[in-house]
Amino acid sequence: MGRRCWRRRALAAACLGAALLLLLLLLGAAARALLPESGNKALGSGWLGGKKRSPLQMLYDLDQGSSSALAEVHRQRRNLLRRACSRHTRRQRLLQPEDLRHVLVDDAHGLLYCYVPKVACTNWKRVLLALRGPGAADPQAIPAHQAHAPGRLPSLADFSPAEINRRLRAYLTFLFVREPFERLASAYRNKFARPYSAAFQRLYGTRIVRRLRPRAHPDALARGHDVRFAEFLAYLLDPRTRRDEPFNEHWERAHALCHPCRLRYDVVGKFETLAEDAAFVLGLVGAPGLRFPAPPPRAKAASAASQDLARRLFQDISPFYQRRLFDLYKMDFLLFNYSAPSYLRLH
Ligand SMILES: *[C@@H]1O[C@H](CO)[C@@H](O)[C@H](O)[C@H]1NC(C)=O
Repeated sequence: MGRRCWRRRALAAACLGAALLLLLLLLGAAARALLPESGNKALGSGWLGGKKRSPLQMLYDLDQGSSSALAEVHRQRRNLLRRACSRHTRRQRLLQPEDLRHVLVDDAHGLLYCYVPKVACTNWKRVLLALRGPGAADPQAIPAHQAHAPGRLPSLADFSPAEINRRLRAYLTFLFVREPFERLASAYRNKFARPYSAAFQRLYGTRIVRRLRPRAHPDALARGHDVRFAEFLAYLLDPRTRRDEPFNEHWERAHALCHPCRLRYDVVGKFETLAEDAAFVLGLVGAPGLRFPAPPPRAKAASAASQDLARRLFQDISPFYQRRLFDLYKMDFLLFNYSAPSYLRLH
């Protein structure tokens, strides 16, 4: 066998090996049922020395018993997600470990949390950090920059396919989502319309102005500080944007960050019912004394303001762009049971 040929074979074998690993990863994710029969065995009495049931087992118990109203809500959300996935997704490419970058791992409690920016992810990272610490640290006391510091919380992407599969089978997997256009409006306001967003404005704002604003003022070209919502949307819809690189995580679709049709999520939390849903997850974790950071006193007003902000921002957008933007975010609407906002002019 010539040397070249041998090399080609080695390469082919390596490729095949990699493909098999990925296939395993895929099967592991697909085969995992909520019912942790195998999980029970795998975890068995070994879970925390047999003293405690894992969060996934807790959820299983809830589902078996005369389940609470809240458990029923979550069961229905899960079923809806599953149905929407089978109805709306076609053949998909294989998942690579790198696709799981947003899934954070808590080995001590058996948790996988996929974070979606603009959906209380700072507070969830705080909670995961507090869970790691000895004693019951107060999540609220952890500064935001610490919660977001890279590497503070391990990501599923850092593990081998076998290790990923093991965790996907045995851990409680959850994410939090939000009405897609409210999330988008919030991202725009936070990253473009606030004086403290200079870094984002320089990085993305200047790009948007350069590409989309004819005869831009030199100051706007240099600072990217005055991007209008319509320009931001045009940037999102411009095919060049996603050809160059993936969307920034603040406006990337939740399904593209968390792959809810590929991984089996046990709990789909919603920003709109954040306090109840967070308490539900923490109840499964069984960490007495740990409280999800309370929303600021003005939270109710802020939530109404978030709806109102989206409505106001979209009001000036033409029906043509509204439709195209709805198409872009449609999967997040469908998978997480959000209806098209009434202020849109889709027809
Ligand atoms: C989906 O949304 C509708 C309308 O808001 C609601 O009535 C229904 O209960 C939701 N279904 C699930 C499974 O959450």
